[in-house]
Amino acid sequence: MTDPANEKAPEKTECRICGGAVEEFFDFGRQPVSDSFVTPETAGREFYFRLAAGICADCTMVQLIEEVPREQMFHEDYPYRSSQSAVMHRHFEEYAQRLLATELAGEDPFIVEIGSNDGTMLKTVQKAGVRHLGVDPSAQVADFARAEGVRALTAFFQDSTAREIAVADGPADVIFSANTYSHIAYMDSVFSGVDALLADDGVLVIEDRYLGDIMGQNAFDQIYDEHFYLFSVSSVRAMARTFGFELVDAEPLTVHGGSMRYTIARPGRRTPSPAVAEHLQREQERGLASPETFRRFAANVRSGCGELMELLTSLREQGRTVVGYGATAKSATIINYAGIGPELVPFIVDSTPAKQGRLTPGSHIPVRSPEEFSAPYPDYALLFAWNHAEEIMAKEKGFREAGGKWILYVPDVHTA
Ligand code: SAH
Ligand code: TMP
Ligand code: ZN
Repeated sequence: MTDPANEKAPEKTECRICGGAVEEFFDFGRQPVSDSFVTPETAGREFYFRLAAGICADCTMVQLIEEVPREQMFHEDYPYRSSQSAVMHRHFEEYAQRLLATELAGEDPFIVEIGSNDGTMLKTVQKAGVRHLGVDPSAQVADFARAEGVRALTAFFQDSTAREIAVADGPADVIFSANTYSHIAYMDSVFSGVDALLADDGVLVIEDRYLGDIMGQNAFDQIYDEHFYLFSVSSVRAMARTFGFELVDAEPLTVHGGSMRYTIARPGRRTPSPAVAEHLQREQERGLASPETFRRFAANVRSGCGELMELLTSLREQGRTVVGYGATAKSATIINYAGIGPELVPFIVDSTPAKQGRLTPGSHIPVRSPEEFSAPYPDYALLFAWNHAEEIMAKEKGFREAGGKWILYVPDVHTA
């Protein structure tokens, strides 16, 4: 395991939000694009970049130092499908119902979703007969949304896209974006698009992994190419302000190992919920933007990866079998940083059809269907989709019953 972070002084970069100084706190080295599942023919042609994260001393936004060109990540073959998780399905259905009963209860309401993927969220809106438009640049997943009857545009959301939508469909009462806003480095263009598209009294609702949970649980694999930003209440509030908006609510969510739902409005249009100030204070008390937090995090990443490699190596020496579960995008970070290859984890099972039969980026571990998990069960299963632990462990309860053990590495390396 190499650790280039030890080899040179941290870099200073300009913050993509406010122009302040970004101080690098961790360098994962050369990493492939996380969702580039390759075939034996295309293996080795993955796009590589330097995966390193830093925090802005001015606005507290945690961000990547190097940006991967968006076309390398989001294209025709982008494999991720929101609908693969029943928990996420339910989560989005519940929130869509809530929006339908509140923000979308007026006359002829209109909602736009940024990063609508396969239409999992908008499906509920469509069924209610409410005007909607999903925007997603990944053609295949947008086709799945359309096949569900969801209206979807294959495009990157940015200023020009938003203006076109505003002309064609009129202002949006809600602009919703789950696990996507953080994927977009060019926030100036996105917010100017939101400004052009959002109704005067409308809301922009963003759901994303929460920095507080990532630091608290040492969930370092949440750092990967697509997660250009890691949001906190403090940084999202500053970002909204920078672009002429106001953060009016923050609601913690349990999904994806700990997320936050941010509601943003035009200044003065909504009364801010006390939750915003409460979270800001809690973040300050726990030092969420302090150098000490990031030093501790960096030390935990190194020790966690070291322990996992020791465990996997000793299991191999004992002749125990280990299989990976969930070829997640975030698994690219731990697999490539720690140096896990097919000799330690011969294959990973995953329910996503577009990942099956392919090889993981960089490490070239084969991805197979979950049906192969029980044929026969391995001794250990390394749970890369730890954010779906409850759902997967319930689905695969036969594994434990047969004497199998799960290996987890968040918040620390342990078996369950
Ligand atoms: N909202 C879904 C999907 C998240 S995956 C969920 O929470 O499960 C992120 C999605 O964002 C991908 O489908 C990707 O194609 C899309 N995306 C990336 N950049 C985008 C942009 N600029 N505008 C709209 N969608 C974008
Ligand atoms: P995510 O953590 O980015 O949501 O990715 C989860 C991955 O795990 C995705 O590739 C689908 C896969 N998965 C399964 O294989 N089985 C499951 O039961 C669930 C919930 C996800
Ligand atoms: Zn900044």
